[in-house]
Amino acid sequence: MESKGFVDASALLGRLDKRCYGQFIEHLGKCIYGGVWVGEDSEIPNQKGFRLDVLKAVKELQPRIIRWPGGNFSSGYHWLDGVGPREKRPKRFDMAWRAEEPNTFGTDEFLEWCRLVDAEPFIVVNAGNGTPEEAARWVEYCNLKTDTYYASLRRKHGHPEPYGVKIWGIGNELYGRWQVGFCVDGAECARRTIEFANEMRKIDPRIELVAVGCEDPEWNLEMIKDAGEYFDYLSVHIYIGGDKPYRELAAVSLDVERRLRNVYGLVQSARRKFHIEREIRLAFDEWNVWYPEAKAPLHEQVTDVGDAVLTGAILNTLHRLCRAVPIGGFAQTVNVLPLIVASDDGRMALTPQYLVFKLYSANTGDFVLKTAVDTDHYASSELKEPVPFIDLSATLTEDRKTIYLHIVNRHETEASEMEISLRRFTPKKASQQYVAGRTVEDRNTLDNPENVKIQKASVEIKGEKILFNLPAHSVNLIKISG
Ligand code: AHR
Repeated sequence: MESKGFVDASALLGRLDKRCYGQFIEHLGKCIYGGVWVGEDSEIPNQKGFRLDVLKAVKELQPRIIRWPGGNFSSGYHWLDGVGPREKRPKRFDMAWRAEEPNTFGTDEFLEWCRLVDAEPFIVVNAGNGTPEEAARWVEYCNLKTDTYYASLRRKHGHPEPYGVKIWGIGNELYGRWQVGFCVDGAECARRTIEFANEMRKIDPRIELVAVGCEDPEWNLEMIKDAGEYFDYLSVHIYIGGDKPYRELAAVSLDVERRLRNVYGLVQSARRKFHIEREIRLAFDEWNVWYPEAKAPLHEQVTDVGDAVLTGAILNTLHRLCRAVPIGGFAQTVNVLPLIVASDDGRMALTPQYLVFKLYSANTGDFVLKTAVDTDHYASSELKEPVPFIDLSATLTEDRKTIYLHIVNRHETEASEMEISLRRFTPKKASQQYVAGRTVEDRNTLDNPENVKIQKASVEIKGEKILFNLPAHSVNLIKISG
């Protein structure tokens, strides 16, 4: 295959909010207990109870933002159960997952973990069977300096300085009958959102709020119409069934892009119709491939290179949607539908999806550039449209000296020679890294954790053009210095 691409260094689509590489962790299966947290007495190496291999792997991901404690779990979670001396914390029945919650990992542990991995915290309050007052008190515990009960409680627990948590979610998937304390329609959720937002902002007016959205236009319309002046982001979750033929799976990013654009378009039309002045963007705060074997209670699966190809294509989508979708939340980081598999016997495997995240978040610019691609297509029977084999996104650093190309080759057997013409940018040096494995089914397992790796290749520079090879089923990162 041969493909051509065009990148104009002066055509900025928008600023890239690197929170699009965000992660999501939930009290579910072995995500928190066994993944993030093993406790100080564990034989698994840990730092104050935080599992060390996972901590290091997450830090290397540079996730920028991490959402917690759920997910469905958040709708029955009472935060006061998870603060103070650990031996005194109550063990509770978690209604969302019908599990026992020991509460040994709570607010202070989460915020300390975020500090260690250098990520911004994103806390989802209980808007299921919790109250606005309980949520407001959580904001006080985290953010206030005052000489009042909950701020003092934080100090008493050994945290003199406020954490300054900026992003708060009001509930999770409240449209679903599976959710503890679900709402029957968008109007009910809007009323609930207003009550929570009102009390939480009375405690700290600087916070930014994420409200429950979905792909039901009626729900979203009611949310914007009634509560549009009360929140900053509307949440959207998309899980992709993994049991599809590879070509269909690799094509799904086109569908994800269309669906996110549709939701965002509706939000903007509703804002205009109902004269909502507050800017509202999307938080795509749960997304991943979900295989049928990932079931309760553990939700374990081991994803492969094919899933990594889709992951790269979705990250390219989020680049292109940088003005509409500033926050992402990969579901989930450890052990549940995982990026990182961390076993009870102390071993760890980093999936090809993990390698893609690592490649992208360490090598990305501050602005998204407009690009064009000339490539072959294939027919998708699910999407009923031609799917380009090559997906290209480009980002430029603030100092305008480096361009990063993020390129996916969806083809399962054919490599592609690619030539990129650069406008208003003279390349001086270029290098390539990629994730491809040998086949689309290649994966990293606990027994074979190094099977798929990030590899390197060289790039040729010819005047204003660069030339390189994209291996079959690969996710590539080309760094070009000018
Ligand atoms: O990520 C697993 C679950 O999927 C989350 O708890 C929920 O929000 C979603 O339905």
